[in-house]
Amino acid sequence: MRTEDGRIIHLADYRRTDFVLERVDLTFELDPTETRVEARLIFHRREGADPAAPLVLDGDELTLAGLLFDQVEMEPSRYDATPDSLTIRDLPASEPFEITITTVINPEANTQLMGLYRTNGVYCTQCEAEGFRRITYFPDRPDVLAVYTVNIIADKASCPLLLSNGNFLGGAGYGEGKHFAAWFDPHPKPSYLFALVAGDLGVVEDTFVTMSGREVALRIYVEHGKEPRAAYAMDALKRSMRWDEEAFGCEYDLDIFMVVAVSDFNMGAMENKGLNVFNDKYVLADPETATDQDYANIEAIIAHEYFHNWTGNRVTCRDWFQLCLKEGLTVYRDHEFSADQRSRAVKRIAEVRHLKSEQFPEDAGPLAHPVRPVKYREINNFYTTTVYEKGSEVTRMIATLVGRETFRKGMDLYFERHDGDAATIEDFVKCFEAASGRDLTQFSLWYHQAGTPLVTVSSAYDAGKGVLTLSLEQTIPPTPGQAVKEPMHIPLRFGLLLADGSEAVPSAVEGAEVTGDVLHLTARRQTVTFSGIASRPVVSLNRGFSAPINLHFEQAPADLAHIARNDSDLFARWQALTDLALPNLVAAARNARAGTPVEPDAMLADTLLAIAADETLEPAFRAQALALPSESDIARELASNNDPDAIRAGREAVFAFVAGRDPAVFAALTERHRTEGPFAPDAASAGRRALRNAALAYLAVAEGTPARAAGAFAAADNMTDLSAALGVLAHRFPDAPETAEALEAFRARFADNALVLDKWFSIQATIPGAGALDRVKRLMGSPHFTMANPNRVRALVGTFAFANPTGFNRADGAGYRFLAEQILAIDPKNPQLAARILTAMRSWRALEEVRADHALNALRSISNAGKLSSDVADIVERMLK
Ligand code: ARG
Ligand code: ZN
Repeated sequence: MRTEDGRIIHLADYRRTDFVLERVDLTFELDPTETRVEARLIFHRREGADPAAPLVLDGDELTLAGLLFDQVEMEPSRYDATPDSLTIRDLPASEPFEITITTVINPEANTQLMGLYRTNGVYCTQCEAEGFRRITYFPDRPDVLAVYTVNIIADKASCPLLLSNGNFLGGAGYGEGKHFAAWFDPHPKPSYLFALVAGDLGVVEDTFVTMSGREVALRIYVEHGKEPRAAYAMDALKRSMRWDEEAFGCEYDLDIFMVVAVSDFNMGAMENKGLNVFNDKYVLADPETATDQDYANIEAIIAHEYFHNWTGNRVTCRDWFQLCLKEGLTVYRDHEFSADQRSRAVKRIAEVRHLKSEQFPEDAGPLAHPVRPVKYREINNFYTTTVYEKGSEVTRMIATLVGRETFRKGMDLYFERHDGDAATIEDFVKCFEAASGRDLTQFSLWYHQAGTPLVTVSSAYDAGKGVLTLSLEQTIPPTPGQAVKEPMHIPLRFGLLLADGSEAVPSAVEGAEVTGDVLHLTARRQTVTFSGIASRPVVSLNRGFSAPINLHFEQAPADLAHIARNDSDLFARWQALTDLALPNLVAAARNARAGTPVEPDAMLADTLLAIAADETLEPAFRAQALALPSESDIARELASNNDPDAIRAGREAVFAFVAGRDPAVFAALTERHRTEGPFAPDAASAGRRALRNAALAYLAVAEGTPARAAGAFAAADNMTDLSAALGVLAHRFPDAPETAEALEAFRARFADNALVLDKWFSIQATIPGAGALDRVKRLMGSPHFTMANPNRVRALVGTFAFANPTGFNRADGAGYRFLAEQILAIDPKNPQLAARILTAMRSWRALEEVRADHALNALRSISNAGKLSSDVADIVERMLK
């Protein structure tokens, strides 16, 4: 484990390497505990570099087993090797030279799943961000690009399959039951995109003909017997390849594209050139075992990793500060892909829900950082929702500012200028300035200033003059290291809704630039007047969530209801419902905390019911509308002194009020939206299931008995309906015999399918209330659970901490103490996993004081524990600052 050395890396210290790496030849002799790696590296000193500078290569827990200079053993006086670096002196001033490094590594013992490791008997690698240095000494940074040849030698019986990046060169026997294979990747790449997989796996094969007529072999490798569950991933891959050609002109560039699904993986997936490695959770699906959400995730992540081939691989990042250059952009591209494949508005609502529940809290707490940070201690901790999701929103705003067509021109220019390069955010932004002629200097603050901007708006209508006045003010809250902020360029899509549902078109606008339906807020305060407005309009602002901001705009409930029922933008309709619901939920939480009765609002309930019953609206949208803001949404709105029990009690009261208002509406929905025929994972069918299951949750509460959910559980013929019914049973009727029976039936039926049992763990981990902790502890003792698999840990411990506000935030602090113990137990084995789960406590300062005090003590117990990984030390220290 790399332990904390407190060293901070600064963007301002960036400089190029002294040596240029020309070629890489790797030979692996695979062995579970003693894999020999020989790396032949050809370098030359960069022109203009210090002729005396040594070559310093990165390592991590390495031991040097051999070192040659131009094929001759190197004199020990010329180098120093430690586990984390190899320094070589007295190197040629300009001519190329060859260094051959031999290391011996132990894949079996590699529990942190970085570098080369074994998962279920399969050798695989994860090198982003700094895993390659755990394989061999290397200039392990993204601006060192080289062409790689990889030779793999392994036991033929246990590893019939030998894979690496690029195109297959050839293979042969290698004596003593071994064989070898050679791969060559003609595209220069940084080490983080290196991959090797060896083992015995099943395969699904297909082909794709690119836009210029080249045939590409497609292969998805999964455990034997699971091949049928890879069909949907293959379908999503082909659709992704086509879409990238059509939407961005990006064509695939090797003879083969491979995806390997593995069961032990720290993240979702990894875009290694030509050889993506996936968490099997994001590959395997069939109707019996996967929910509609699983299908949507697979489609999105297959697309995401494939799209990295151009945004990430062909154009990579100069340094890790530029991570959003590939991640934010690629998330934006996968969002657009899913929007085109499914319902754009529903997709946007889901994105915004996710952004608000994950990124907004990060941006409002101790872990807040800019989309393009300027310093880090542990880069693994910057694979955040800010870099990914806010990074995507920033890219989306560029598209909004310059327009769709110009955005495409800017992307073309980006590929033209930077193909084969390691680029920066500045390089990226310049392409859109060039394509549009717009100055994006102020806009670029979105990359540099952390914190969610708050835009406060008020409106006034002068009927006599026919003038609408909007007063807007932006404030950007202070975040760690950034006390004072400059005003940003905030693009706000808007519409002026009239009483009949049509839209007013102003004859003139003063006080702000308006392009099309976008109002540009650029100053701290702006007063904008719209003339020629014949009657009072309702202002629909930030349509499509054109800017990732908090908007405080006091609008009358009747106006919000008008937007909710009439806006031409479905997203705005959903947003208005949320704005209608939140004050109710906040008031309910306050009342619950004060012990006074909660009085829910009939207007909210009636608007929700009207939308639920509106058969002109797509079911998926109605399902989103029926999902009230979550407990964490309410906590964010309250901002401080949060009491999760009161928040839940208040929300439950509102939910029950809506449920009881007119249960016949929900009953009708469960009847009308049955999906007939064989299961299809398409968006329309998924939407109907979502609507029925939303209605089921309301009905169960209205009826107050588990009977209907138990019936739905028994009748379910797909995992979406089955797990939804189980969720209603467990969360609404945790102590009912029906629930115990259903949980056991589910467990027994899927006992041999770990991914499905993760749902069983998660559903139980999120049963609200103080009893959750004991339940989670008991489940950790289940034979289906293991701390050694990241998916299991995330499904049980992670879900409990992230998604069970009342259970985790128990008033006696036992949830926090439990998490601290788990973090300390996981950290020595898998620091990345430990650090990620610890971020569940990122909003601890917003808790009421008794809980906050317990949380503080738990965090201190981690920070005082002594030997911590750099990953956990970095997180805990930032949280305590
Ligand atoms: N680049 C991968 C993706 O977003 C994620 C890799 C994350 N690796 C890590 N060590 N945090 O597609
Ligand atoms: Zn990515």
